[in-house]
Amino acid sequence: MREVPLLPASWRLTGSAIGEYLDYLSEAIARGAIDLARGVPDPVLRKTSVIKRAFEEVLSDPDIPYIYSPLGGPSSLRDLFRRFIGEHAFEVPPGYTVIVTPGTFAAFDILAKLMLTPGDVMVFENPTFTDFLPHAIFYGASTASTPIVDGEPSLETIRSHYGRAAAFYTVPTLQNPTGLTFSDEWRAGLAEIVRDHGLRVIEDITYSFIHPSPPKSPMNYVGGEAPYALVGSLSKVLAPGLRVGFAVVPKTWARAVELAQLHDLSLSPINAAVTEKLIRDGVIDKLVREARRRYSEKVRAAIETLQDRMPDWVSWTEPEGGYYIMIYAPGADMSRLLAEALMKGVAYVPGDAFHIPPRVAGKHTARLSVAVESVERIVEGIGALASVLRDVRR
Ligand SMILES: Cc1ncc(COP(=O)(O)O)c(C=O)c1O
Repeated sequence: MREVPLLPASWRLTGSAIGEYLDYLSEAIARGAIDLARGVPDPVLRKTSVIKRAFEEVLSDPDIPYIYSPLGGPSSLRDLFRRFIGEHAFEVPPGYTVIVTPGTFAAFDILAKLMLTPGDVMVFENPTFTDFLPHAIFYGASTASTPIVDGEPSLETIRSHYGRAAAFYTVPTLQNPTGLTFSDEWRAGLAEIVRDHGLRVIEDITYSFIHPSPPKSPMNYVGGEAPYALVGSLSKVLAPGLRVGFAVVPKTWARAVELAQLHDLSLSPINAAVTEKLIRDGVIDKLVREARRRYSEKVRAAIETLQDRMPDWVSWTEPEGGYYIMIYAPGADMSRLLAEALMKGVAYVPGDAFHIPPRVAGKHTARLSVAVESVERIVEGIGALASVLRDVRR
């Protein structure tokens, strides 16, 4: 039969550069390679039996599987998320509304859909979590970037070139892939551009909950209601499989954002009720404390090992906690070296997956994740990677 094409917009769909590497690495990891690649919660922090019990208790209410969530999510969970963000990150100012979504991906997609028209420019920091680029491109935007220089994305580039861009996506706390947390001055500077130019910002606070002492959001510096949105989830604290997250948006945007959920009606009422129960029972509060301690300890051990083992021409970021460290190995092609590293038993994600344009820039960088392995295995894995890099300049 003749092939019937979809709409031209479907030609703009692209996959995930990060996901392709993770797929490639999955077999080696399953066979026992040290996993400095994946960014999912540490198996030691899994609460599988607690989650199972919560599902059982929630499902003891026979009506739960037979209801729909209201657009925006159940009001009780919306209130809980506002409190949760306040307790574990920063206060959400009064002019903003919390909307429950199935994860950060959905929150970003809804906002991109509402913010972007074909021909708009969406700015990303470089390097960044590139998985959101395809959303912007799908909605017809072209993507631009502002480089991370001296530990922070250049505000000068945004102000002078992109101040009137349609939107800017940022992960200012425990950024993926660098692990960096941008300074209070940077946050105040971004707030000024928002005030001066009306730049729309999507701030991803997914990792804020595992920062040892999370700073305020630029949203707190803007003052009054601004075109500023937060997106985030419990994926990095609790479990990505629950698909529970949120968008926090100015009240004037709230109805449009709720209506944009018509495709999935917020999220599964079962998962919403389980999340609500886990928050109310204090399970997640406790988990946040454990996670902060554990990831900070692992990051510290990784940095010490880098200092001890890496050749002197390699450098790295020094995060305060969280999952990620980025290494810079000038002259080394970290994508090409991946096969060698796997032969020595260690997996990581080459940095070209996080750069714009993907696969072209950032060849000499790599993201190391301390998320899933023990301190002993992290130390061993970094040792193996150091020996691969030493061979490069032998
Ligand atoms: C910056 C960033 N945002 C969001 C996510 C996760 O999204 P979700 O909340 O949809 O699981 C990740 C996961 O790797 C991430 O690194």
